Amino acid sequence: MERVHNFCAGPCTLPMSVVQELADELPEFGGSGMSLIEMSHRDPIYDEVHHRTMDLLRELYLVPDDMSVLLLQGGATLQFAMVPLNLLGPGYDPDRPSAGYDPDRPSAGYDPDRPSAGYDPDRPSAGYVVSGSWGEKALEDAELVGRAYAAWSGADGGFTAMPTVDQLSIRDDSRYLHVTSNETIGGIRLPEFFDLGIRQVADMSSDYLTRVIPWDRFDVVYGGAQKNIGPAGLTVVFVRNAILDDLPSTIPAYLRYTTHTETDSLANTPPVFAIWATGKVLQWMKDQGGLPAMEKRAAERSSILYDAIDGSDGFYISPVERTYRSHTNVVFRLGDEQLEQRFLTEAEEHRLVNLKGHRSVGGMRASIYNALPTSSVEILSEFMADFAAANG
Ligand SMILES: Cc1ncc(COP(=O)(O)O)c(C=O)c1O
Repeated sequence: MERVHNFCAGPCTLPMSVVQELADELPEFGGSGMSLIEMSHRDPIYDEVHHRTMDLLRELYLVPDDMSVLLLQGGATLQFAMVPLNLLGPGYDPDRPSAGYDPDRPSAGYDPDRPSAGYDPDRPSAGYVVSGSWGEKALEDAELVGRAYAAWSGADGGFTAMPTVDQLSIRDDSRYLHVTSNETIGGIRLPEFFDLGIRQVADMSSDYLTRVIPWDRFDVVYGGAQKNIGPAGLTVVFVRNAILDDLPSTIPAYLRYTTHTETDSLANTPPVFAIWATGKVLQWMKDQGGLPAMEKRAAERSSILYDAIDGSDGFYISPVERTYRSHTNVVFRLGDEQLEQRFLTEAEEHRLVNLKGHRSVGGMRASIYNALPTSSVEILSEFMADFAAANG
């Protein structure tokens, strides 16, 4: 089989050696007479796989001892709700239902326009950096749960930059500031993490394990595995243990972080295949030189593509302000949409696939996550030069 050069924004390319190992080990695992994906998640054989993935995450990402590693489901999308549920206090108090709460209604316990009797408007709030669609979605969910506000929005600028620290408007009563370290659709990245008086929460879905994190600035860091570290189905969440002491009692079990910290993420059936495969990708990353190697590689590979854009005499256009260019999602445009379509068609003929930009913005996007071979990026850059020469 000849592999394509897959620039998909997620799920994404995995190391071929890992895909092959999974195929080889799929029919029978550890002499058990069955596949790992047929086994009880309480089996000691699975337990070892589960904890190896957790340990590798801790080791590779340099996670401090006072943070827990959670292996969850529901994607980063579920964290949009879990973060405010856990950190912003109860929106709905069953002992003090919303004013106007109707006990005969089938659902909807809490109505933001008619907050719980006893609802305290002085409860802390949370600031959200709206740097693109993902930050926007995170804020929308937080607003349903508690008092959340935009501490900055890049909507007017078309989401082509991140804010500087002095552009943030953080209210005094803020419990946390939420950031999206890399906006996958706009292709923009926080070049430096903010150093603030309050702790932050970060959606790192599209630059997970591509850079060193100043952990002491974060209470929660989350992201789906399906971009940089594994297949879809697993969401990795890092939570500061100190925040777990006084979580609201009204959070349903799965949504409460302590349900998972107290059970090593085995409270319910975990996504065993994704955890197994992610463990293999993490081991591959370790063998490649770990986080420093991934960080260096991401910077080098994105430079190859930005050089191709900048050296094209305006044939390719990067909409992103230079300082904020993503190292994992390189977004670019051509002058007209017909030409862009031709680019995509011819790219596919060269086995360069999934280069179409997100449906909300159009254009092109090359997602170059950890496991994509550098040779794929070089081949794309050569193709870009040839296409520009033929069509410029
Ligand atoms: C930055 C970011 N946040 C959140 C999401 C949603 O993630 P999931 O599909 O894991 O829910 C994505 C998906 O692409 C993303 O790129």
